[in-house]
Amino acid sequence: MTTPTLGLLESAFADVELNAQPAAGAYSLPASMYRDGPIVDIERSTVFARHWQLVGHRSQLSTDGDILMASLGGLDVAITRSEQGLRGFHAVCRHRAGPLEPCRGGGKTFLRCRYHAWAYGLHGQLLSAPEMRGAEGFDETSIRLPEIELAEFEGLIFGRLEPGPASLEDVLTEVAPRLTRAGHALSALRFHERVSYDIDCNWKTYVDNYLEGYHVPHIHPTLNAILDYRSYTTMLSQWHSLQSSPLESAPDAYGSGEALYYFIYPNTMLNILPGRLQTNRVLPLRGNRCRVEFDFFYCEAPLANDREFSDVVQEEDVRICEAVQRNLDSGSYVSGLLNPTRESGVHHFQELLRADYREALRRAKEIRRQA
Ligand code: FES
Ligand SMILES: [Fe+2]
Repeated sequence: MTTPTLGLLESAFADVELNAQPAAGAYSLPASMYRDGPIVDIERSTVFARHWQLVGHRSQLSTDGDILMASLGGLDVAITRSEQGLRGFHAVCRHRAGPLEPCRGGGKTFLRCRYHAWAYGLHGQLLSAPEMRGAEGFDETSIRLPEIELAEFEGLIFGRLEPGPASLEDVLTEVAPRLTRAGHALSALRFHERVSYDIDCNWKTYVDNYLEGYHVPHIHPTLNAILDYRSYTTMLSQWHSLQSSPLESAPDAYGSGEALYYFIYPNTMLNILPGRLQTNRVLPLRGNRCRVEFDFFYCEAPLANDREFSDVVQEEDVRICEAVQRNLDSGSYVSGLLNPTRESGVHHFQELLRADYREALRRAKEIRRQA
């Protein structure tokens, strides 16, 4: 991952207050951080490379030979399962950067490049490369896919590209006892389906919106009817936050119990209801475009109307996020005051971003000093 230069960082952060903001009186990050431009590459190396991101669930890799494709901050990765356990690799062909995809042949699974059919094994090693024998210096045994680090929590598999500031265990501290208390066993769930949405907004616009229930009464009338807005709480931990609300019992809805909405910095969301987990991964595409992948997991059969209900709420969120993004791009707005109680999750997220931006500057200054 290339490190952004000091000059690039100083100009990108010219109008950003990088110092930590006390919760009461905090202002949102300025609009310039949400537009297309150098911030996309800066965040790729500063935010996405160093932090744990969800790549999948054990139930998607139930047998040796299974391969799961995912994306880590703009990099396609492949998670493989073999007798050696789970391993993760860059899914970028070492020939001329072609895309790799899972393939089956001769009773084995492997990764094959769609471009010129080079093939790689479950341990990342090159297996074959058509018609390459005559190339001077070609040494099949020296070609491997770069590996990524993986870690697992309650059946959820996370990956990261570089060593970062915290272990997955530290990031998710307090989550396991909370799940146990509420009777949720995430590792027992099975993958059901994926729905992807490409949205015309910066990835942070979508995350900010996820992190507050302030908009629920105004944007989500149906959701508001089943959540108890008055009891809606946000709890902050170092690397994650939790929004929760008792479910108002209602026919056709989710019954009684508690809705838990975990956000794990920088882009993972776990939406947990009795017998159901929906994960969201927010993937930056460009400065003003992102993809959100929804994966649905259930204990047994899918909950009735779960997908239809999720689609309605998501549609409402997409419309408001795209409207906000148009306004962020309009030049009319710079930054605004956050609500200290209803937007504490947004503040928490933006403080983690500020810390990463400061870290990027610190590293660039160190490099400048050593040059
Ligand atoms: S780029 Fe992969 S085989 Fe050519
Ligand atoms: Fe929403």
